[in-house]
Amino acid sequence: MDYFMPTRLYSGADCISQHADAFRALGSRCAIVTGKHAAKASGALDDVARALEAAGVASCLWDGVTENPPVAACAEAGRFAATNNAQFIVGIGGGSALDAAKAVAVFAANPGLDEADFYAKDWANAPLPIALVGTTAGTGSEVTKVSVLTDSAHRKHSIHDDALYAAVAFGDSRHTHTCSLSTTLSCGVDVLAHATESYFSRKADDISRAFSVRAIRLAAGPLKLAGVGGLHTAKTLVDKLLSPSHREALYNASILGGLAINTTGTCFPHNVGYYLTETYGVPHGFASAVFLPAMLERVREEDPAYAAEFYEQIGLDEDAYTSLITDFCLPIELDNISMTPDEIEAALPRWENNGSVKNTRADVTTADIRKILTSLFVR
Ligand SMILES: [Fe+2]
Repeated sequence: MDYFMPTRLYSGADCISQHADAFRALGSRCAIVTGKHAAKASGALDDVARALEAAGVASCLWDGVTENPPVAACAEAGRFAATNNAQFIVGIGGGSALDAAKAVAVFAANPGLDEADFYAKDWANAPLPIALVGTTAGTGSEVTKVSVLTDSAHRKHSIHDDALYAAVAFGDSRHTHTCSLSTTLSCGVDVLAHATESYFSRKADDISRAFSVRAIRLAAGPLKLAGVGGLHTAKTLVDKLLSPSHREALYNASILGGLAINTTGTCFPHNVGYYLTETYGVPHGFASAVFLPAMLERVREEDPAYAAEFYEQIGLDEDAYTSLITDFCLPIELDNISMTPDEIEAALPRWENNGSVKNTRADVTTADIRKILTSLFVR
């Protein structure tokens, strides 16, 4: 196994202000890449602005990141960063903003690059250095070499490259306190998906399994608390349900999940989930996790001893773990998604010879995926 994780991660309260010099080490001008809302509402943008000022780093702001960021928007942001002579990129936000920032770093160094050459990694110049500040507990993108973007055909694809590692990342879990319940659960169940899919990846080993198990053990309690009232729980109630230490546990779990998938990759739930996101707009975490019970069933059939060890390690049996995912974390809105058999047939070819499907520690055929989609969504 090849564990290469070169990102310096500062975590804990006030880690940004305490390590403002880490920005200066990357250059004297940066472009901040973020969305419209979370970076501001969480206080992360203000914290970064103060740190940049203290470090004597000039900045420009591109706040056009949307969910499932399109490659074209990253190219536009890259041109903006290049025009402003940015020497490095600072991504602030959840997975979308952090993944976009990695791509912006590529385009800023290669302003004329087209989408095909971007995905082919035919980059004349190395990406600009990257600093990341997380505001959700889900993606783990802070510590991975992965960026998931939406191409011009409206398909989600991941790109992996050692050059996409952040030079430095900041994880102050207080920046996740403003997350709504829906965001908390969607991102939190993404953590469970990362950790679980990594555990049942064909590439898993003792090191990656340690990341996975700890991630699940940290995240399970807070998610059960957050999900107990259902998705209509008011924000004030969520704040009462989740203490700062619960939020910190979720955030640390997200980093562990990122470390796990960074080496093993994900399995079929993530890839089939991309289809749900592209077609029905289902948030990424929910879209992946809805397929976890089917994966757990499939891997248990294939290797019951391996599955039994997983449940022993996480301290929950299969029923309890499946219930945590489906009864506490997934929204009832998923019940409104309805597919026809023809729709499913039309989608199936995308999973033939798919790397994430093959990475699952059980043989999963397109017939299996047809069965899973049918049982969940043909009504
Ligand atoms: Fe994910």
